[in-house]
Amino acid sequence: MTEPDVAHRIENLRDEIRHHEHLYYVLDKPAISDAEFDALMNELKRLEAAHPALVTADSPTQRVGGKPAEGFRKVRHSRPMLSLDNAYSEEELADWNRRVHELAGNLPVEYTAELKLDGLSVALHYESAPDGGARLATGLTRGDGQVGEDITTNIRTIRSVPLGTPAEKLRKLRLPQGFEVRGECVMPETAFERLNEEREREGLAPAVNPRNAAAGTLRTLEPSIVANRRLVFYAYFLLVGGDYWPQGQTATLDALTALGFRVNPHRGRVDTVADMMKFVAEAEKQRATLGYEIDGVVLKVDAHATQQRLGYTGRAPRWAIAYKFTAESAVTKLEDIMITVGRSGKLTPTAMLTPIFVGGVTVSRATLHNADFIERKGLLIGDWVRVERGGDVIPKVVEVVEDADHPRGNRRFSFPSVCPECGNAVVREEGEADWRCVNADCPAKLRESLLHFGARGVMNIEGLGEAAVQQLLDRGLVKSVADLYSLTEEQLVDLERFAEKSARTLLAEIARSKKAGLARVLMGLGIRFVGERTAELLAEEFGSIDAIMAADAEELERVEEVGPRISEAILDFFSRPANQELVQRLKDAGVETTAEKKQRTAQLAGLTFVLTGTLPTLTREQAKEKIEAAGGKVVGSVSKKTSYVVAGEEAGSKLDKARELKVRVIDEDGLLALVAGRAPAK
Ligand code: IVH
Repeated sequence: MTEPDVAHRIENLRDEIRHHEHLYYVLDKPAISDAEFDALMNELKRLEAAHPALVTADSPTQRVGGKPAEGFRKVRHSRPMLSLDNAYSEEELADWNRRVHELAGNLPVEYTAELKLDGLSVALHYESAPDGGARLATGLTRGDGQVGEDITTNIRTIRSVPLGTPAEKLRKLRLPQGFEVRGECVMPETAFERLNEEREREGLAPAVNPRNAAAGTLRTLEPSIVANRRLVFYAYFLLVGGDYWPQGQTATLDALTALGFRVNPHRGRVDTVADMMKFVAEAEKQRATLGYEIDGVVLKVDAHATQQRLGYTGRAPRWAIAYKFTAESAVTKLEDIMITVGRSGKLTPTAMLTPIFVGGVTVSRATLHNADFIERKGLLIGDWVRVERGGDVIPKVVEVVEDADHPRGNRRFSFPSVCPECGNAVVREEGEADWRCVNADCPAKLRESLLHFGARGVMNIEGLGEAAVQQLLDRGLVKSVADLYSLTEEQLVDLERFAEKSARTLLAEIARSKKAGLARVLMGLGIRFVGERTAELLAEEFGSIDAIMAADAEELERVEEVGPRISEAILDFFSRPANQELVQRLKDAGVETTAEKKQRTAQLAGLTFVLTGTLPTLTREQAKEKIEAAGGKVVGSVSKKTSYVVAGEEAGSKLDKARELKVRVIDEDGLLALVAGRAPAK
């Protein structure tokens, strides 16, 4: 391709990728498969690596850029990011509505109702881009409301944040090239759960809730971590020149949608307090199934003129209010503690409670995490405890309540020294919080393994629920997950509540699961620490279960996210003859255990480098290895054909020569960026 062709292709790819990112991350309506999307992205990365001069800051490849040097720069907000006053009842809403009407005089009073997302507010500043559009320049936390922290590099990794807006859209909305968008960053529950699984694997305390986890994430100094955490940004304000966009709140939300931002779809226009309460009731119903946490509803006066008339108190606008859901905690009695055995043999204590209504559901069990938790809280059976429930998250015991009406319990709980399911001794490894049953034949483990194998997101075998599994085990029909594949219709119809039809459906589901793919199989095996993402990365890297089984620690650790703990768990798993046999049996049954290997793009193919001076961390030899591993060539002297000179401290004549010939000079960071498929900083 000639240079103009490449530039053209790059532009087309970017447009196409942006379009698909918008469909996927903003509208939730993907139009192509992940693999097709990756193919577009890989082509773009390849072209940009070969033509670094064509890389622009708003290219979709640039979401993970450099790191903020140290800490975060403090930046004053264009106008303070205020808080909201709260209402907790219909009466309080009615009072507020009355005040609004009084102060508004003859100006119109209508409200927008939005969900109150439980995340962090951030402000995004867009500035003019050379093509007449706007591009993301700065992302700030709320900070103390007056001054925020510059978290731009982290914000750029959030896929629902557009990196730029074309001139045409600005023209249509009559927006200038510089504007500001404010909204809420939330961590979806699935991302939160994944994060806590990871933290557990690393022996870290779990994050308490998605909001804290999102806050911690936005303030990490490692943008690649942020990129992995799948935060979502919902926009709700648009500002121009530090003032709210004068068209009012409904039009603002529409404009933000048109600009490509994700705007929460659960919104409405309301006039009366009765309408507000209807919206609240609706939101409370949706709460459990949204997939992210909300803690109330925000009502805003729609018309800008009315907003201005109402003005602000010191801390909040008078034209908006947050209706907060009632606290989702309640006090009840701890009747007993029950131990359940997980698929890895982990013993989890569960609180058995006097049933109580919390946040819309009746709760009779709550997690107690592990033995330490019980000890730390000094829990006694018979205690009164506070139980909390956030959204659809599993309820948890948060504290012991003790007062005149709530006397302490009197029975100590001693954590069992044997597995409650099989009676074998349990062990607790050094540095671990959990007790485990290590009996390979523990029936609880087999039951949980089967349930895990068939679960949604794993092998996805519809119909393989608790009742079916228990019966299969009771009849001795399965002794390992591999046995699922040799079940027959006759065996199944014999089971209680198993009609011919459901037997046939279950068998069809089991047969279908053979095509689930290598990543799912890896997850299904239940190797410790190997969750969805690790399984996918392993599958992509190795392409087959045989290759994974043949790999040593070093090879395994070449996979992103696989460190010594995970590699050790994988090696340990496959070193056991029983597991080797299991894999063989799955293969014999026709379960797919191969995957398409990720094409490694040679990032530096066709490029030549000259090294000069001392680099800060890499030796000459290491730098050379990195370049060559990425397909580049290292030569001794600078010529016009040299693509890059990598210069360190005390670079000599080669650097002069590079300048004379106008060869690009980069430092070690620049080299590492190139190797990683990014453009070196200018
Ligand atoms: S409007 C003048 N709308 O709630 C500040 N805030 O308790 C008005 N929040 O700091 C903010 N969802 O972080 C607004 N739909 C929404 C919101 C929302 C969540 C947060 C925001 C704000 C806090 C106030």
